[in-house]
Amino acid sequence: MCGIIGYIGKGLAQESLIDGLRRLEYRGYDSAGVAFHEGNEFCMSRETGRVQNLADSVQKNSSQSSLGIAHTRWATHGAVTVPNTHPHVSHDGKFVMVHNGVIENFGALKHFLSGKGIEFNSETDSEVLCNLIAYNYSELLNEKDRLIDAVRIALAQCRGAYGIAVLCLDYSETMIGARRGSPLVVGLGDDANFIASDASAFVGRAKEAVFLNDGELAILKGTDFRITTLEGQEAKAVAHPVDQISEEVEIGDFDSFMEKEIYEQPTALKNTLRGRFGDDGTTAKLGGLEGHEEELRNLDRIIFVACGTARHACMVGEYLIERLARVPVEVEHASEFRYRNSPKAEKSLVIAVSQSGETLDTLEAVREAKTKGLLTLGITNVVGSSLARETDGGVYQRVGPEIGVASTKAFSSQVCLCAMLGLALGRMRDLSPMDGQGIVEALNDLPDLVSRVLQQGEQIRELALKYSKAEHLLFMGRQSLYPVALEGALKLKEISYAHAEGYPAAELKHGPIALINPECPSIFIVEGSELSAKTIANMQEVKARQGPVLAIAPEGVEIPKEAADDVFRLPVAHEVVRPILANLPLQLFAYHFARLRGLDVDKPRNLAKSVTVE
Ligand code: AGP
Ligand code: GLU
Repeated sequence: MCGIIGYIGKGLAQESLIDGLRRLEYRGYDSAGVAFHEGNEFCMSRETGRVQNLADSVQKNSSQSSLGIAHTRWATHGAVTVPNTHPHVSHDGKFVMVHNGVIENFGALKHFLSGKGIEFNSETDSEVLCNLIAYNYSELLNEKDRLIDAVRIALAQCRGAYGIAVLCLDYSETMIGARRGSPLVVGLGDDANFIASDASAFVGRAKEAVFLNDGELAILKGTDFRITTLEGQEAKAVAHPVDQISEEVEIGDFDSFMEKEIYEQPTALKNTLRGRFGDDGTTAKLGGLEGHEEELRNLDRIIFVACGTARHACMVGEYLIERLARVPVEVEHASEFRYRNSPKAEKSLVIAVSQSGETLDTLEAVREAKTKGLLTLGITNVVGSSLARETDGGVYQRVGPEIGVASTKAFSSQVCLCAMLGLALGRMRDLSPMDGQGIVEALNDLPDLVSRVLQQGEQIRELALKYSKAEHLLFMGRQSLYPVALEGALKLKEISYAHAEGYPAAELKHGPIALINPECPSIFIVEGSELSAKTIANMQEVKARQGPVLAIAPEGVEIPKEAADDVFRLPVAHEVVRPILANLPLQLFAYHFARLRGLDVDKPRNLAKSVTVE
């Protein structure tokens, strides 16, 4: 994944680079490094671990340079060591480069370069690309555009994904960026310009942002810049004001961003819902879908593509949309969809859901859908993200930046938007005004119900304490609560490293019940519908085998004493909002479970917030 930031300007690069890295740390936090152009040499610092380690080391040896590049790494090729940390320097010391992505043919390129006598200091694919640029540069001795051509030729020789920033010792006033597959954006300020993985890296320092499209190259020279295609044609630069792109985020009185983001869900959902209902109060009005009414009315299939938590939100969406709009819905792992040979259906709509809007697998799924001529819509939280720019239309989640690696408020708003989409599509078909009105009211009541559940946080902390010794846990639910069970299990795995699985409640007896023993707690989410009795029967099957049971159930649904050890109560609510409410205690359970183990919930091991590699 990795975060990239480059600075070229009149001031000192150091502060902007380190500050930029801190803001990009959500993209990876295995190691971090920085390189400054110092006239006749590059001055480098690289440290494993958090950006703070790098900041401490740079502090001791401040640079006066006004040209530099920096990187925070999420390792794909090579262990987390200093030699594998970016920036990478070419064998001749002429080039320094940071890279986000994967060079798929790095093995063959490395073999070729080794044959030319070039030696390598790291196990990364990135160092190979850096040396390939240096090699091409050495071969282009008398060319006018030697530097740019060397980069272009090297990139044409690469297969895979990259966002790069490159400096050359011979050019003390030039920085080059290029992208294919991984995001890259140019920031334009008064005294300095930037290249970064996302615009949050230069908030407060740049006024405008120019997002590079795939296959484009940015050439920043002094205070000028231009964008070309990788083939060398001039490309259009569209500038967006930075203050509309990213916001600063403060942790406030909370002990982690995850906790803060869980507790800000009532406000977040109000923002998701605000101004998005029709005047007659029976339907949802999503601005980003305007202009596509005809296609939406006539579509005969929806395919959701997403990853991780966003995919779980889509799975809830599948139940809701099929129920409200009677449109067949499929949910695909974005990474599978993009390689599938699925039969084309003319009136299919592809909806990509991604909090960051930068998940590579999801973006590639969208690109594949567009290649097949399908209409694509995006649901994303990040304004100006690649997903927002590449889809035919879409809806913003409006929940503010989500910093915690474990997605919480974004899930709730994605489910909320799926319900609104189901409502809008339903009202275009056979959903009655009365049913529509009931759903609008339920959605409007949602933020208050969410507050009520979150007020019971202490009870969840006690339950987490009771079960905190468990190393294996099962999560079960039926229908739209089945994806909630999957999400509860994912959240727990991600931040506590305990092993957890989610299943449809009735599936238990087809295998997973073999895992049940007194050390393996089961968390059941009870529907509050005609299916509740069946789920309670599944709980009894677990109890009969000495498995501890925690039930999450709406008020009023009687849970027999012998069916559960503990019961957490949810308010009675309309079926469309139940999945959001039921997920809240699971978010809090995971949070407390991990905190009780002394873990950093915002930066769990091996993960990164935004997965921009395959
Ligand atoms: C969520 O807790 C995870 N960190 C992860 O599954 C995430 O939801 C997934 O990587 C998709 O991210 P996106 O929504 O930014 O596309
Ligand atoms: N492949 C590079 C490395 O392992 C960059 C990784 C990435 O962007 O995730 O260092």
